[in-house]
Amino acid sequence: MTRLPGSPDNRPQRKSEGQLTVEKITLSVIKANVGGYVGNADTHEDVLEKARESLSKATSKGLLVDSWTARCGDDLALMMTHEKGVESKDVHKLAWETFTACAEVAEKLHLYNPAQDLFSESFNGTLRGLGPGVAEIAFRERPCESFIIFLADKCELGAWNLPLYKMFADPFNTAGLVIDPSMHEGFAFEILDIVENKTLTLQCPGDLYDLIMFLGSRGRFVVNKVIRRVDGMVAAITSWPRPLGIGHTAGTDDPVLIVRCQNGLPTIGEATEAFAFPHLVSGWMRSTYQGPMMPVAFKDARSVRYDGPPRVTAAGFQLANGEFVGPVDLFDDPAFDNVRRKAIEIVEYMRRHGPFEPHRFPHDQMTNTPFPPLLARLEDRMVRNDADAKKKKKQTASAAEDGE
Ligand code: 13P
Ligand code: MG
Repeated sequence: MTRLPGSPDNRPQRKSEGQLTVEKITLSVIKANVGGYVGNADTHEDVLEKARESLSKATSKGLLVDSWTARCGDDLALMMTHEKGVESKDVHKLAWETFTACAEVAEKLHLYNPAQDLFSESFNGTLRGLGPGVAEIAFRERPCESFIIFLADKCELGAWNLPLYKMFADPFNTAGLVIDPSMHEGFAFEILDIVENKTLTLQCPGDLYDLIMFLGSRGRFVVNKVIRRVDGMVAAITSWPRPLGIGHTAGTDDPVLIVRCQNGLPTIGEATEAFAFPHLVSGWMRSTYQGPMMPVAFKDARSVRYDGPPRVTAAGFQLANGEFVGPVDLFDDPAFDNVRRKAIEIVEYMRRHGPFEPHRFPHDQMTNTPFPPLLARLEDRMVRNDADAKKKKKQTASAAEDGE
């Protein structure tokens, strides 16, 4: 079993090593970029250590049942189980204080852009609107509770659209949709319009074509959660979108996805198979480029080539009375080598476009960058063709009057 960076000895203390009866457990995965090392590539070990220390204390005090700390590129993720329910003020405060303490470490080490994803001076009761990405799910633990926490770097929230469609709506990816009676009724997708802040729930397979209509526009419509139709069980949940208008220096979502697996849900293999095609996502280089999403082992979750390419890790866990058993580094599998090779081929192809679309974002998506002011400098050198035509017409008319 491969563990996340940091030795097993550093593992935060659990609430108890014995049997623990937990009525309803909440799994909270909260992530933020608190400072990159070096640049936007990775996360410093001292930052991770500070996070472990903070969560370990919270576990000893009884706030958490268990915790795990991970990184994907320059993003730090706190994986926590507790009994406080979703959007718990105590748990969000713990995450905020942990990130703040980690940002102080980043500041001391002069790391890149400390506190990049912390948009507020203080915590006001919820992480909503403050910058960190939050994916939370509360459930009654199944006798065998298998799940995967996917972490991504250099991409926006819509990067999950295609894999989630494959996992929960495409029988060519997920055999269980056809042969498992609990899955045969299909799954509902709650999707969010991130511009108009509206949600819509589509029932698949009936609403499949409508689903694709929305999910194809990954910059605008994203999946909030996926629900098993037969009984309403939440099968997958994504992190919140970041506040709009935060400026280009704030980076990308670099989102989180939790997928529950097995026993009437996609198997671990069906969930990870959705990443066997390195689809194009947005958020690479200065958050203005598109590139393939490359599934990688934990050790390779550092974004170096052209600050990327976008990448995803998969941490597979079991839960035992709220305590983490794992993780297994699911993309640390030679069977994904060809996917990575394909991703690298796509990188070569996309990079040859240099600063041209579609490698660089389309023009109208560059509004959140220094691009518009740079273009504005040339405004007075722009000649309006329609105005010019009018001027010429006027000149011709007056020349005719003069009998020329
Ligand atoms: P992050 O969103 O991971 O901070 O990356 C910013 C970027 O695009 C670096 O080139
Ligand atoms: Mg990042």
